[in-house]
Order: sequence, then structure tokens, then C-alpha cells
Amino acid sequence: MLILHGVGEHSGRYAALGCALAAGGIMVRAFDQRGHGRSDGPRGHVSTWGHYLLDAREQLEGLLTQAPELPVFVYGHSIGALIALGLAMRSDREDVRFEGRPRGVAGWIISGAGIEPTGIARPHLVATAKLLSRIAPRVSLDLGIDAEALSHDDAVIAAYRDDPLIGRRATVRWGTEALAAIRAIKAGASGIEDPLLVLHGSADTLARPRGSRWLAAETAGEVRLEVYDGARHEPHNDPEYADVASDILSWIQHVVKTMRRSPDRYRPIPLSTYRRYSEEEMVERASAFRDDMRRRRTVRHFSAEAVPEAVIDACVEAAATAPNGANMQPWHFVVVRDPAVKSRIRAAAEKEEIDFYEHRAPPEWLDALARLGTDEHKAFLEQAPVLIVIFGESYGLSEDGSKIKNYYVTESVGIATGILITGLHRSGLATLTHTPSPMGFLNEILDRPKNERPFLMLVVGYPEEGSLIPDITKKPLDEISTAI
Ligand SMILES: Cc1cc2nc3c(=O)[nH]c(=O)nc-3n(C[C@H](O)[C@H](O)[C@H](O)COP(=O)(O)O)c2cc1C
Repeated sequence: MLILHGVGEHSGRYAALGCALAAGGIMVRAFDQRGHGRSDGPRGHVSTWGHYLLDAREQLEGLLTQAPELPVFVYGHSIGALIALGLAMRSDREDVRFEGRPRGVAGWIISGAGIEPTGIARPHLVATAKLLSRIAPRVSLDLGIDAEALSHDDAVIAAYRDDPLIGRRATVRWGTEALAAIRAIKAGASGIEDPLLVLHGSADTLARPRGSRWLAAETAGEVRLEVYDGARHEPHNDPEYADVASDILSWIQHVVKTMRRSPDRYRPIPLSTYRRYSEEEMVERASAFRDDMRRRRTVRHFSAEAVPEAVIDACVEAAATAPNGANMQPWHFVVVRDPAVKSRIRAAAEKEEIDFYEHRAPPEWLDALARLGTDEHKAFLEQAPVLIVIFGESYGLSEDGSKIKNYYVTESVGIATGILITGLHRSGLATLTHTPSPMGFLNEILDRPKNERPFLMLVVGYPEEGSLIPDITKKPLDEISTAI
């Protein structure tokens, strides 16, 4: 969120609000506007209002580039609210190069908006400012802000009075520009379509709450108006109104949820890949596929003959078409051909397997394996021309290193592996599904990051001449399936 402060003050006065928002998970950026706080520029002066918009826009662009995947919100208070509204409107003043509103802002929080100001709008000040703005634009006038008008909190009032960074004056040009900005908002607020949260203290004597009520009624998009009963100009700096931060957080949550469900995030395309067959053809295809799959058998003795790379690549590409949770595609396939790497894998796997067969395996498991003729010797890990190690990505990683949630990783990777085995079989290659336990050593040998976990390893190649396989059968349909 980008915070835009009001006239005469500075970003440091938003520390409490910023901390409360940060505790709610919001990344907050605030800066001192030109002529304010620690920023450069003549105090309380702006030669044209558009400069504020450009500065704010530059900060916003920084945020949008820093966190492109996060929704960005702008919070503007008082005069900062006028700047925020200026940005939110489609176009702005023509006297500075300003190319419309920034794209990518999810919503605007407009607090204590100075749409109906009391101070700068006093008739004699307006008249003086108008007169002097052209001839002596930097003549400054007292803003006349009474610290007591800000908050009920004595500490806030005292801090404001003692704050050396507070500016108490603004130039006449600043005044005429602010008034012009208000006129522009009155003429253009109906064009604002983004979500707005409008906050105002009902006892605000610096900016009348009726300005915010007007705004809430005027804009075209979704608006939530919160008028804090009895609050002065800065509800966010008033412990009596501790709800401000939580109101902002819950509104942000609401906007983000609505945004995620919004129809423009879902842009469907026609289903052009589907093929319809006659029923006869369907039966024929299904039966042929079944018969072909019935020929697949796990092989444990492989020829050293190389296999075509293009076949492996096509089968991995086929595996990657698998249906998967929220299309996060939480998998990575490492194709190992290097004999040295295969030897390291064999050595590490056999170490685990010896431990498994000699110590860890319960008798029933050894009994079940006895029929398959497997033991701790894994010569196939070196003999076979290709090992494909399939990793499941427990979570994704964004560019800034933050975690991205993946869904149904095991199910998704399992389906992809099934397609891979099917593809390899149908291409004329034999496979062995191998799961040394535990498999953590594969991350180290294959240099995979820790958000990836080895799922299983496929040993791939041509079966060795005269290969023998266990004499096992598959359960018939009526044992494995029920029709309801
Ligand atoms: C998840 C999984 C892990 C397996 N692990 C091994 C293994 O470590 N060693 C092995 O020789 N076979 C392993 N197999 C192969 C099975 O023993 C084999 O698929 C099963 O006995 C049926 O034989 P078939 O594939 O010829 O139909 C594994 C199979 C699966 C699905």
C-alpha cells in the first residue's frame, strides 16, 4: 500500500497506521511529498498540482514493479486523498505530461478527504491566493491548522505541536492548485470505477464529512463509506478509533476476494482439441488401449543400448499435460544419462536398500517382495541408459523468494507419472518404477532445490535379451470396480 500524507505533515506521522497494517500482512510504503518533511522543494509549495501526481505515480510504479503479483492499494489522507483521487480519475490536468491513471491499483482508501475544506477555502484567503498566485506564487500564508482538530489523543496533539518536520504555511500557488484539484475532482469523480473505501471523522472541522459523503454517492465503482462518530480529522491517529486499521484490512480482504472471483480473471477459449468418435470407434480405441497396456510389465534387467532422446522428451511433454491441482504443475523431471551420476545414484540407493532389506523392512513386506525377486542389488540403475527422477514441488517460489502454494501435489505428480509410464511403454520402452526409501539423496546428487521432493525414479530402456519377469496377474474388472 502506498500512503499519501496531508498538507504540512510528513510520512512519519503514519507509523502507527503503517505498523497496524503491516501486522495485518500489508507491505506499506510512505514518502514525504515534495516541500514536506524530509523531502526537497520549497516548503508548502507546488508550482503545479500535477507534480504531486507524478511523484505519487513514480512511487506507485516502484511498488507495482517490486511486487507485480500483489494487489496494490493507495491510501490518501486529507490533501493526500485529493492526490489519490486525482490519480484514480481517468485523466488529469493537461499542464503536465500525465498519462491517465496508473494501471494495477486494486482500490483507493480516501481518508478525511479535503473535498470540502474549511481552512484554505475561507473566502478572503481564496481571493488573496488568486490575486497573488500569478504575480508572487511563493508568498506563503498560515494554514491555520489547530492541532486539537486532529485527534482526541493528547500525545498526538503534543507530538504535532513539537514536530520540527511539520510545515505550518503553504504558498498561494499551492492554495490555488489545491482548489483547482478539488474542482477537478468535483467534475470527474463520477468516472472513478475502482473500489473506494471512504473514511471520515464526523467531527472533522478541517475537512467537512459532507465532502466524503458526496464522493461516496458520486463515484461509479463499489464504495464503502465509514463515518467515525465523533472522530476528528485523523481517525487513524486517534486510539479511540482503533478500528480504522482493521476496517481497512477487512475492506482490502473483501476487494481482493472479489477481484479473484471477478469475471475478467477468467478468459475462456473454445475447446478446439476435443475429438468425438462414433461409439464403435470408442469401444475399439478403448479396447486397443487396454490390450496395449496389458502388455506393459515392469522390467528389472535392461540393455545398455541408448534410447532416442526425442522419445524421452516427447513422453515427458506428455506427462506434463496431466490434470493437476489449480494447474500449478508441481513437478520437475530430471533425465539422467551421465554414467557417473547413475553410479552415484546406485551407490546411494543400495546403501538405503541394504538397510531396508536387512533392518527396516517388516517381515510381511519382505514376503510380498519375495514373489517379485527383488533385493538390495540395483545394477539396473547403472545398466539402463536413462533414469528419470520425478520430483514433486511441495511449494513454488516467486522471484522474491516467497512461497507459492501448490495444491494436490501427490495426486498431480502421480497422474503425470502414470502418463509418463504409459507414454514410454507405448513408444516401445520398458520401465521400472523404483522408490529407494528414503530418497532425499536424490536432491543432493541432482542438485534440486529443497522445495522439491523426489517422488519416484523411473528406470528406462530396452529390456535385456531374455529378460525374466515375475509371474503375476492383474485382478479382473469385477474385483476392482463396482457399477452403481
Ligand atoms: C510406487 C511404486 C514403487 C515401486 N517400487 C519398486 C522398487 O523399488 N523396486 C522394484 O523392483 N519395483 C518397484 N515397483 C514395481 C512394482 O513392484 C510392480 O509394478 C508390481 O509388482 C507390478 O508389476 P508390473 O509393473 O509388471 O505390472 C514399484 C511400483 C510402484 C507403483
